[in-house]
Amino acid sequence: MNTNNPADTPATPPVNKPDTTADSSHSAATPAAAPAAVSAETQAALASTAHAPNSPGATHIRSFVHRRGHITQGQLAALERLMGEWSIPYAPRRLDPAAAFGREAPTVLEIGFGMGETTEKIALARPGDNFLGVEVFNAGVGSLLRRIEDSSIPNLRIIQHDAVEVVRDMIAPDSLAGVHVYFPDPWPKKRHHKRRLLQPAFVSLLASRIAPGGYIHCATDWEDYAVQMLEVLSGEPLLANTVDGYAPRPDYRPLTKFETRGLRLGHGVWDLIFKRVA
Ligand SMILES: C[S@@+](CC[C@H](N)C(=O)[O-])C[C@H]1O[C@@H](n2cnc3c(N)ncnc32)[C@H](O)[C@@H]1O
Repeated sequence: MNTNNPADTPATPPVNKPDTTADSSHSAATPAAAPAAVSAETQAALASTAHAPNSPGATHIRSFVHRRGHITQGQLAALERLMGEWSIPYAPRRLDPAAAFGREAPTVLEIGFGMGETTEKIALARPGDNFLGVEVFNAGVGSLLRRIEDSSIPNLRIIQHDAVEVVRDMIAPDSLAGVHVYFPDPWPKKRHHKRRLLQPAFVSLLASRIAPGGYIHCATDWEDYAVQMLEVLSGEPLLANTVDGYAPRPDYRPLTKFETRGLRLGHGVWDLIFKRVA
């Protein structure tokens, strides 16, 4: 057994139990609000996607914890109304992007879109590409559904599920034009580093899903995670760095509000852009 493979790694902590010790510093959800009422259909849809405790491969260490996050009425209403229109349910079988988007176009996967500000801007700025956003938190999914409707974004679809399983089960090898992973949860405590998303086994899986010539673009504001990313991406034989070390932020990635504030305070942000080799 390859214990580096996320699908094989044993001993998952309970996924539905709030982990009050976790410091995923700017996670999209705020803990401890009263659970909002949702219809039975929405409840069932969310249970079968975000929580999925019994989905195949639920044995790897999750890069997120489930919390009953605060959700606004608007986000809840968007979940109720728009999930069926813009989201694709997780299923352990390959996705047909042409059918999902209603057209053939390069597909870019974004992992952990949070509240979806960046996702919205990039999808609007690059109308020729299809964007598939994967996120687990209800508030974030509700927020991006609202953006899709408010800004009439035709080239964006959402899967609410653990990205490790989505990539493993739904994305065909050599198929993605790009992958975006912006500000993944940093898990700053050493004992939580095992929860960081960008580990060798997952990067290897991701690289196998990118088409030759396609790219993976990561960004973080945690220096030691940036160092880890550079090491892991550089160590993956299917990937080659597009520059020497960290890349300048490309124009298509907008500055987030949080990032603007951080930069003003002198905090660093590191972008990494690697290409899939043939
Ligand atoms: C720190 S937030 C960053 C959000 C956004 N990318 C940004 O730049 O503001 C990280 C997000 O990744 C999501 N996430 C973490 N692990 C995930 C996984 N395995 N699958 C899907 N989403 C995940 C979390 O729910 C959270 O919303």
